Amino acid sequence: MTTPSALLKVMIEAVRKAARGLTRDFGEVSELQVSKKGAADFVSAADLKAEQTLFEELTRVRPGYGFLGEERGEIPGTDKTHRWIVDPLDGTTNFLHGIPHFAVSIGLERDGAIVAGVVYNPANDEVFVAERGKGAYLNDKRIRVAARQKLADAVVACGLPHYGRGDLALARHEIAAAQQNFAGLRRYGAAALDLAWIAAGRFDAYWERGLSPWDLAAGSLLVREAGGFVSDCDGKGDILKSGDVVAGNDFMHRELLRLLQEAASEAGKAEIREAAAP
Ligand code: IPD
Ligand code: CA
Ligand code: CA
Repeated sequence: MTTPSALLKVMIEAVRKAARGLTRDFGEVSELQVSKKGAADFVSAADLKAEQTLFEELTRVRPGYGFLGEERGEIPGTDKTHRWIVDPLDGTTNFLHGIPHFAVSIGLERDGAIVAGVVYNPANDEVFVAERGKGAYLNDKRIRVAARQKLADAVVACGLPHYGRGDLALARHEIAAAQQNFAGLRRYGAAALDLAWIAAGRFDAYWERGLSPWDLAAGSLLVREAGGFVSDCDGKGDILKSGDVVAGNDFMHRELLRLLQEAASEAGKAEIREAAAP
């Protein structure tokens, strides 16, 4: 990438500034104050500090824009066409366990569509950026989704429902389908990075249910600008509303959608069988 646009520049500066605090806290993670938002849903002082920094930075450079942050929620702006969608720390459980796989994610929405996105993993200093119509980049190098056309050679990533969250029965069928068809299955624990790794051709396919707009905004644009396809589990486009995502190159996206739909009907039949069992 020659030079990032002025817009990408301010977004990159903002994530780097927020990440300075995260990197410091990551070094002292055992000292960090942590509270629970719900079952297995942690928020730490690190999340809150990072979001405060992002809010200050982004409102300083674009005062009128709206702001939707995971921790503070929706802050409407005077400019009704623009909204930042921010996850200050994606992969909080990884972070709290000292696992160096987490990210700061900023998406910019204009008139309901994501037009710019940055996902930054401070642990390995990888900056993924994309702007609509201008491609996707990792540390200034253009990235593209993988070209693999065989499931048996492919690695699929997923989000897994865990303690107290999600449909475990459906997930069992989906995971079985993935195990029977793909060369490898990965659960890395940071949705924004899962999508960024699809864009960089590291993962061939990815699916997850029950996500929030801040998990998906920047990552979905990265995949599209890297030549990939993103939809919900029914093949529809509005993933920020549904919270479900399927991503990959054209072939992988289509095949994974097919496998997920087969798994869903299997899960439905199994449920009927169980209900009918004496
Ligand atoms: C979580 C991560 C995780 C996904 C969860 C998200 P957070 O985000 O992206 O991979 O499975 O559903 O909530 O809470 O660490 O920002
Ligand atoms: Ca998240
Ligand atoms: Ca988060």
